[in-house]
Amino acid sequence: MSSRFKHSLLDLKTSDKSSIDQLFSVADTIAKDQNVAIPFTGQTVALLFFEASTRTRMSFETVCARLGVYPLCLDGKSGTSLEKGESLVDTVLNVAAMNPAALVIRCGDNLDLKELANKVQIPLLNAGWGQQGHPTQALLDAYTIRQNLGTCSKQKILIVGDIVHSRVAASHLELAKILDYEVAFCGPDSFIPAQFQGRVFGTLSEGLKWCTVAMALRVQTERHQAASALGDYSVQFGFTKKSLSDLSSQALILHPGPINHGIEMDEEVLNDGRCRVLQQVSNGVFIRQALIRRALMEEHA
Ligand code: CP
Repeated sequence: MSSRFKHSLLDLKTSDKSSIDQLFSVADTIAKDQNVAIPFTGQTVALLFFEASTRTRMSFETVCARLGVYPLCLDGKSGTSLEKGESLVDTVLNVAAMNPAALVIRCGDNLDLKELANKVQIPLLNAGWGQQGHPTQALLDAYTIRQNLGTCSKQKILIVGDIVHSRVAASHLELAKILDYEVAFCGPDSFIPAQFQGRVFGTLSEGLKWCTVAMALRVQTERHQAASALGDYSVQFGFTKKSLSDLSSQALILHPGPINHGIEMDEEVLNDGRCRVLQQVSNGVFIRQALIRRALMEEHA
């Protein structure tokens, strides 16, 4: 991690198991009593969302409310000087000059968060960075797995779908090495990264029989030029009542959201007893609260 702040979070490559265990333990405490919070009254945290988001942005806003921190929110270009041609880097540096206690940034690959982290004097958290990574999502997924299955260690996680465009999958490949779980992929050939050296299942049925956690990813239709690229995706790889009959009754069904119902997951799957999609969202608040608390405590140490 290139930031001088120990509690910046740009990726998970240099994280270690003990700091993640500690984070999960703080999240447990927050989850048990959501009214107990160390207040950071008078502080601000900048939430700079240059790309669309519902879950991540609103969970960070919830965290700010619970910690007594005022969120400085930027949602896309509209109403900002980005509309007048100001660059993304200048925007971040100018907001940083207002001295928020931390920066939370969602952006595309056109911004280099590692370079930025070296230019600012405050902790920086990656809230979804192009195809690079989405570390807070991988952490909340792992937390959900630990909550339901007791541990992440030795779990077999099948990630199904648009892996080539997925920052969530990229972060899971990093986190799997630390928390000792196995990641396998499943999807059409064009959705699997060519450089991936791990296990790939050609059919959903084989993958679902193997795994302890089945995670569907959103098919990023905006990145596939032709609708024909999707072909019969939902027939081959969609999570449906029928296809999920191959999944163990003890296994979990996850999706980071947003869901394309009828493509990667049928709406009725949300009612499946193994589905933890909305629990992932609740856990996102606890994990992000633990991360912001850690960053602010470092800032004021
Ligand atoms: N999973 C996720 O990052 O969702 P949002 O894009 O809505 O934040």
